[in-house]
Amino acid sequence: MKISAKTKICAIIGDPVDHSLSPIMHNAGYESLGIDFVFVGLHVKKESLREAVAGIRTLGIRGVSITIPHKQEALKYVDSIDKTAEKIGAINTIVNNDGELIGINTDWMGVRDPLENLISIRNKRVGIIGAGGAARAASYAVKSKGAVLNIFNRTLDRAGKLANDFGANVFTLDEIAKLKEMDIVINATSLGLHEDDDLPVSNEYISSNQIIFDLVYTKNGKTKFIEEAEKKKAIVLTGIEMLLAQGYEQFKLFTGHNPPKDAMRKVLP
Ligand SMILES: NC(=O)c1ccc[n+]([C@@H]2O[C@H](COP(=O)([O-])OP(=O)(O)OC[C@H]3O[C@@H](n4cnc5c(N)ncnc54)[C@H](OP(=O)(O)O)[C@@H]3O)[C@@H](O)[C@H]2O)c1
Repeated sequence: MKISAKTKICAIIGDPVDHSLSPIMHNAGYESLGIDFVFVGLHVKKESLREAVAGIRTLGIRGVSITIPHKQEALKYVDSIDKTAEKIGAINTIVNNDGELIGINTDWMGVRDPLENLISIRNKRVGIIGAGGAARAASYAVKSKGAVLNIFNRTLDRAGKLANDFGANVFTLDEIAKLKEMDIVINATSLGLHEDDDLPVSNEYISSNQIIFDLVYTKNGKTKFIEEAEKKKAIVLTGIEMLLAQGYEQFKLFTGHNPPKDAMRKVLP
């Protein structure tokens, strides 16, 4: 990769950001196509988000991925927001079109596409654990394909708001045994990133009849939850699949080129 004064810059902003695999994935795509782009990680603290987003415009940064904890707050600082991102209530992407900053959500495609590549989601019973930003994107994704949605969350209020916005049944974590009835189980909590995290749900509720999709990924790809699901012979999808599917769409938005999917996948665990 040759970097010059003409190289177009893309970045991921978050706190923390150094665990992110987005730079490796996007740079592999740029290199494969031989296009003059570079993708870096930028550590942005909560209190600096407004200035950081303004900096995208000032410095002419072409596109930005947004990760924790900025996905909701960043909505406030862009010039326009696409309709899906508005419904989800979060953006994970900013495209800079000649100084106009457009907020977009591609996370929901990161959930829809890996699932739809396996089966049709229509009328499937989907259980999502969690009710934060990732759960909202996942809810939008599965509802857009006609699934029956069930939300399990520690905080009932947050789950209630999500259910109101997307149409879902709501359960507390005391009712987690209901997960056994689901065709698809999605972990959208933040549990699993760290070695010593609890499982989002005990493996007694997982079976070989289910698809288990863990949105969380670790440096080596698989979380403990995925390992447990594999022991139960469930069909599994890791957070790497989500990272790729949402990243393919960002790649197209940032560069105008179709993503070289194999090259991007090859560099990930
Ligand atoms: N693979 C990808 O490309 C990709 C993309 C986006 C996100 N993600 C993953 O998705 C995860 C969630 O992101 P987010 O933005 O939705 O985070 P968030 O808005 O902070 O939501 C976190 C959710 O986890 C729940 N939770 C946290 N700790 C818990 C615990 N100890 N026990 C039970 N529930 C707990 C929270 O429950 P309460 O509501 O009760 O607090 C909340 O529902 C992130 O860790 C990230 O790794 C992956």
